[in-house]
Amino acid sequence: MQPVLTSKTFGFTPKGDEIHLFTLSIPDQIEVSVMNYGATWTHLLVPDRNGKMEDVVLGFDTLEGYLQKDYQDHYCYIGSTVGRVAGRITDNRFHLDGKIYELPSNLNDIHLHGGMEGWDKKVWKSEPFETHNSVGVTFYYQSQDGEENYPGTIDVWVTYTLDETGRMEISYKASSDEKTILNPTNHTYFNLSGDFSKTIEGHGFFVDAEKYLPMNQNSLPTGEIANVGGTPFDFRNLKPISEPIHREHPQIEIAGGIDHCFVLNQPEDCAVLYDPESGRKLTLSTTELGLQVYTGNYLGNDFKGKNGLTYGKRTAICLETQHFPDSCNHPEFPSILLMPEEIFQSRTQFVFTAE
Ligand code: BGC
Repeated sequence: MQPVLTSKTFGFTPKGDEIHLFTLSIPDQIEVSVMNYGATWTHLLVPDRNGKMEDVVLGFDTLEGYLQKDYQDHYCYIGSTVGRVAGRITDNRFHLDGKIYELPSNLNDIHLHGGMEGWDKKVWKSEPFETHNSVGVTFYYQSQDGEENYPGTIDVWVTYTLDETGRMEISYKASSDEKTILNPTNHTYFNLSGDFSKTIEGHGFFVDAEKYLPMNQNSLPTGEIANVGGTPFDFRNLKPISEPIHREHPQIEIAGGIDHCFVLNQPEDCAVLYDPESGRKLTLSTTELGLQVYTGNYLGNDFKGKNGLTYGKRTAICLETQHFPDSCNHPEFPSILLMPEEIFQSRTQFVFTAE
């Protein structure tokens, strides 16, 4: 069925910028809302096996929720677009053409997910659109040369599209006027039960990955690309998330759960998240080669989310499609360099079913 696009004012930033909330929907099948503050995915309603529509992504009911200091200070990135570079960066620096770029630390002395004021905290321009079989919104932002100390001015477009089959896509396009690095992602937290007082430990998870990236004590890749076989990171068959995260394993202890990048075998249907209680299932496809899986280990803060609920540890899981974290300090990893004549492109698709 042809999806419908509606929009409304979600609120105003303290500087007076109007924030729009766009809703892309197909009745009784899917309702996706996104806003131009942080090019953020704010709501996702999908039916359970009895047709009950519930919101299955963390967020806030109002713009004020996203702007509250207590939330922003925790750098949780709920639903946001993350950029310029997703993840942590070793020693908060990288080398490019003989020059060292020192990056500001924003969380526990680490430069994480773009820094002090990453793309998640920017006001983007919005362009809603409609085609013969889809609706969507393109958010545009110009990241100036020197923003968070990164070189080059980057023009970036993030597009959310819902097609007639109910498939949701996030696509990225970017270009730079100078050689730089880029590795954006989306940081939506899913809990397919629709009940944010529950954890996602009972969800089943599958990822088509033979290999993953072990982390050091600072949650940075050691550089090794290890086999998942015999480790808690073997999700080659759907299994409950609770099983590996309660296993005693040094890699699980580092992050108090999973906060690791999987090396995807191939793009199509490469990860599945399934909630056996509601029957809701998310199947993911991506053009990216890595999937950072984060089991909400550092949630458990005081700020109040949707319906006044606080989000406890492991309330939700992030499935962040991207190149490998800290690639700028690992020449052995696929490059995240963006050259001036290049167009960066990346696409991730989300299909929701119930069984
Ligand atoms: C990262 C975590 C980080 C969290 C912040 C995740 O994507 O992998 O290390 O603490 O985001 O919300």
